[in-house]
Amino acid sequence: MLTALVLVCVVAGTQATRLFDRNLAYRSPFAEHPQASLAHRTDLIAKRAFAHVRRQVTNASDFSDDHYPTFYGGDFSNSPFIWNGGLNFTHSVASVITLPLYSFASSDPQTLQGDPFDTSVLLWTRAEAISPAGSNALPDQSVPVCVSYKISTSSDLSGEVDSGSAFTSYDVDWTLKVEATGLKPDTKYFYGFADCTNPTTTSPIGTTRTLASPNTPAQEVNGGKPLSIAVFSCSQFQAGWFNAYGYAAHNTTADIFIHLGDYIYESLGGASIGRQVLGRIQALFLPINPGHGSLSGEQTPGHVILTLIELIYLRRDDHEADQAWKAGTADSNDTAVGCAFSSSGACFTDRKLASVRAYHEWMPIREVVPDDKLRIWRNFQIGKLLDLTMLDTRQYDRDITDLYYNTEFINSIADFKNRSLMGAAQEQCVSIHSARQGLSDTLSESKKREAVWRVVGQQIVFTQLSFNGTFDVDAWDGYRANRARILDHLYQNEISNTVILSGDSHANWVSDLARAYDPVTGEGAIGVEFAGTAVTNISPTDADLISSFLVETNTELQWSEGFFRGFFLLSIDSETLNATFYGMENITFANLDAFPTAQFVVKNGQNRLSRPVADDNVKAGALKSSVMKA
Ligand SMILES: *[C@@H]1O[C@H](CO)[C@@H](O)[C@H](O)[C@H]1NC(C)=O
Ligand SMILES: *[C@@H]1O[C@H](CO)[C@@H](O)[C@H](O)[C@H]1NC(C)=O
Ligand SMILES: *[C@@H]1O[C@H](CO)[C@@H](O)[C@H](O)[C@H]1NC(C)=O
Ligand SMILES: *[C@@H]1O[C@H](CO)[C@@H](O)[C@H](O)[C@H]1NC(C)=O
Ligand SMILES: *[C@@H]1O[C@H](CO)[C@@H](O)[C@H](O)[C@H]1NC(C)=O
Ligand SMILES: *[C@@H]1O[C@H](CO)[C@@H](O)[C@H](O)[C@H]1NC(C)=O
Ligand SMILES: *[C@@H]1O[C@H](CO)[C@@H](O)[C@H](O)[C@H]1NC(C)=O
Ligand SMILES: *[C@@H]1O[C@H](CO)[C@@H](O)[C@H](O)[C@H]1NC(C)=O
Repeated sequence: MLTALVLVCVVAGTQATRLFDRNLAYRSPFAEHPQASLAHRTDLIAKRAFAHVRRQVTNASDFSDDHYPTFYGGDFSNSPFIWNGGLNFTHSVASVITLPLYSFASSDPQTLQGDPFDTSVLLWTRAEAISPAGSNALPDQSVPVCVSYKISTSSDLSGEVDSGSAFTSYDVDWTLKVEATGLKPDTKYFYGFADCTNPTTTSPIGTTRTLASPNTPAQEVNGGKPLSIAVFSCSQFQAGWFNAYGYAAHNTTADIFIHLGDYIYESLGGASIGRQVLGRIQALFLPINPGHGSLSGEQTPGHVILTLIELIYLRRDDHEADQAWKAGTADSNDTAVGCAFSSSGACFTDRKLASVRAYHEWMPIREVVPDDKLRIWRNFQIGKLLDLTMLDTRQYDRDITDLYYNTEFINSIADFKNRSLMGAAQEQCVSIHSARQGLSDTLSESKKREAVWRVVGQQIVFTQLSFNGTFDVDAWDGYRANRARILDHLYQNEISNTVILSGDSHANWVSDLARAYDPVTGEGAIGVEFAGTAVTNISPTDADLISSFLVETNTELQWSEGFFRGFFLLSIDSETLNATFYGMENITFANLDAFPTAQFVVKNGQNRLSRPVADDNVKAGALKSSVMKA
């Protein structure tokens, strides 16, 4: 009898490890890397669960949890090594287009081609074990929970295209990240999760989509309709309601959401809408679920299909550590050579690695390359319509920034050629194969493969902005040689149709990208920058005065707007790329009211904002052409 039971355990054990391994959160940030000290040993976690099986079989008196089910054999839905006391999908669901996980074994460049962005997506949720109804017993944290998932083209998840089960546990904070595969390119899907032991406990249903295959002709991407991308940044929890997400989800055609950073943060002071948090909110949660409960502008209680995620990418943040650079932040005196001066006693780099792990547990994204824990910069080929390149201009390999006490010093070195915002690998070519391309190669490769547009998402404002002679040297203005190298690359290689997206600054800035340039006609420009405002946060009362002054005194700056919170929406086809900026009417309560503040057109091949800029007609802020006329 005992022997038979042990055999069953072994069989079930293999199954259990597989079910752990399917949850990519255990790999965070890396499983393959030789020094992957941060990845979890799922075999040990499975063993820990079995310890309970054995204990129960051999000595029942050790076992005092009433809610621990009896062991019935290989059917894990009723076995003691998963929790069946109930689950809570505490943070709804999220999804993102994936990148393949490269392993050392497949270093042949050939095997790295054909990224499967078009046929798979990552699905994310968090399933916390809870006490059974009527019980005060805390859930047994040493056993995993089992979560099933389904993805389908119908909103009730019938006729699913892919499905499966996976385990999660407290080791990864109950997060679950699975890859749904075998999907059709450029297709919208619905997905959801359930408790394996009680299928009536379900998560909200989310929507996601696959991207067009890299070779899909530009005119055929998104079924021939323009592809629209909603772009956000800076969502401070207690500074305002996240109405921008709700509006983009409900009131626009957004196919994809992009967040350029600072996507959820709080500060202990300044709760301007009274949404005070007690202590730290869980880092990095729920940036992308525009409909989740109180965090959004959602107005219809009980309506759960709000998860128009379709989100491609999240940026690493400048919060909770302000003014982050590669080896420190404004709040710590870490240096590139060590952390002896850290007032907290904890090395910044140690904290950074721990946060990388949390990031990978909480974000529905996957590692890019196994030997670079910090790398999240990457490129998405969306048919021949565009390359969407997402950079990390905050934490990847950035040289020292303005830490408030060193502003003068940073100003004195801002022009140094040996200074990099992106780090050499990200900035340049480090290897021939696509997985490792830096920005310059990606732009050239994008031109070579004849993609119409090159859209570059990154955190901070690119174009030079003089605030009456002073510069924000935490933005690209503190890394001028790096900026010049990017512009040089575009000019020298005659790379057209580049559009840079930026966040961070809590204001809207629209500029032509240029070296020498005629601000009236746009002659000489090589691209366009759209920098968007914050989802929440304060607005200066004299915003329009400031904007007028700024468009007057900054050559490439064509529109500036600093009063409204909001987001912008790109609408892209092979002829034009339009950007519509939205201002939220009132973020002090949950609502879906917004209006377009300005719309810009960029025509294929022109490399500048189409004239007249914004059709000479904006609903907020200051337009250069109007200010110059006045
Ligand atoms: C079972 O466990 C209890 C509590 O640890 C212990 O007192 C008892 O001796 C054990 N019985 C056997 C058969 O091992
Ligand atoms: C589930 O989680 C939510 C969010 O944390 C919480 O408000 C709710 O009370 C939880 N429900 C149960 C049954 O634990
Ligand atoms: C960090 O060092 C600078 C320069 O020595 C000093 O002015 C500043 O107060 C220090 N900050 C902290 C948080 O220790
Ligand atoms: C960087 O360049 C500046 C100016 O040329 C020079 O003074 C400085 O020593 C260089 N720094 C390093 C680390 O090479
Ligand atoms: C710009 O700086 C000058 C000189 O410091 C000052 O006189 C002027 O008032 C400033 N203008 C604005 C708009 O701040
Ligand atoms: C961009 O806007 C122009 C002018 O309103 C319009 O003609 C064009 O169809 C739009 N293009 C896209 C891709 O939305
Ligand atoms: C925003 O809404 C609040 C609450 O209803 C109201 O007190 C405030 O006046 C509104 N603000 C604006 C600018 O309309
Ligand atoms: C946005 O859509 C909602 C319904 O989904 C509607 O109630 C609201 O009025 C719309 N907002 C605007 C500004 O049209």
